[in-house]
Amino acid sequence: MKPFTYAIPCLFGLEGLVGDEVRRLGLEDVQVENGRVLCQGAQSDLPRLNLNLRCGERVLLRLAEFPARSFEALFQGASAVPWEDFVPRDGQFPVKGHALDSQLHSVPDCQKIIKKAAAERLGRVYGLNRLPETGAKYQIQFAIMKDQCTLYLDTTGPGLHKRGYRAVGVEAPLRETLAAAMVILSRYRGKDPFRDPFCGSGTIAIEAALIARNRAPGLDRSFDAQKWRWLDGQCWLDAADEAMDKEFDGAYDIWGGDIDPKAVRIARENAVKAGVEDIVRFDEADVKKFHCQGEYGQIVTNPPYGERLLEKEEAEALYRTFGEVYHRVPPKWRVLVITSHPEFERFFGCRAERKRKLYNGMIKCDLYQFAR
Ligand SMILES: C[S@@+](CC[C@H](N)C(=O)[O-])C[C@H]1O[C@@H](n2cnc3c(N)ncnc32)[C@H](O)[C@@H]1O
Repeated sequence: MKPFTYAIPCLFGLEGLVGDEVRRLGLEDVQVENGRVLCQGAQSDLPRLNLNLRCGERVLLRLAEFPARSFEALFQGASAVPWEDFVPRDGQFPVKGHALDSQLHSVPDCQKIIKKAAAERLGRVYGLNRLPETGAKYQIQFAIMKDQCTLYLDTTGPGLHKRGYRAVGVEAPLRETLAAAMVILSRYRGKDPFRDPFCGSGTIAIEAALIARNRAPGLDRSFDAQKWRWLDGQCWLDAADEAMDKEFDGAYDIWGGDIDPKAVRIARENAVKAGVEDIVRFDEADVKKFHCQGEYGQIVTNPPYGERLLEKEEAEALYRTFGEVYHRVPPKWRVLVITSHPEFERFFGCRAERKRKLYNGMIKCDLYQFAR
């Protein structure tokens, strides 16, 4: 059987990590590009990617790629896709996408044309003037870049960062995919103590717990493609079995603290939803009193950014306090801090060993890595 081409969009800065994840899952021809990873795999890899990826945003199945300098070319290219192989008689097939650096730049017009092409073809094949679109969703996505159109089906549905454990959040939560990436970059393997002194809704600590357990992050949620008729239902069960067989059972030392009792309560509730409440502890704690013991360990954290002026001053004072606390941290601990404040190092009082540009949704941030 011809292999499928999958595209996995991700937050800028995480492409390399997603590429590693995809390789570890055994997919082939992995290409790491700006903002996405491409790879080749079998049909059975579709559930495996969705269930296991920690840092990717979604899994798209590539259907076609063709030059599209005019609406006519777009219509012809979209009409040539064998939609009937994917979308059944009653399937919903909404269209969304984007266009960049191309002659076709009106997204609503491109959307309409692709929809018309798919609808005409499906109507012809199924002998229907009007398609009911009452069944499962087959989200069509298009990307027109430099006059080249690529058509995909979105297999995921709500983004992969929606693990299902964070139904409620506090202000400024970190994306789960970014939190997981930070934990991976800290090289946390579950052995050493792990600390987040600004835990908020607990995302970083919960992702650390999932990583320590080697628990697939998608096991507690559903995906659009689970309802697709042409996809063998057994491959979802096999992928879940495979993922569960790889889980570890052990004792871990993962802790999150926050000054806000409401945040601590939410973090605890989220840990229960994620099924990791037995290995993560959350406490109400001021960073002023933060301390850690043991030769090795990881601190991975996301202090307040201070987007508004007054908050900015408060955030800066907090960074100073955190910097003073850092001097009490044993020298071999690795410390990773993400913030959008451009002068974090100055207030923290220490130069980072390494700095990476990352995006928390639309907010441009730096991830600072400290080591002594
Ligand atoms: C950007 S939020 C963290 C969000 C978190 N990563 C999440 O995903 O929900 C920063 C957190 O720092 C907490 N905080 C502010 N001052 C603090 C202090 N002095 N000690 C501990 N936590 C503090 C806030 O209550 C807030 O929850």
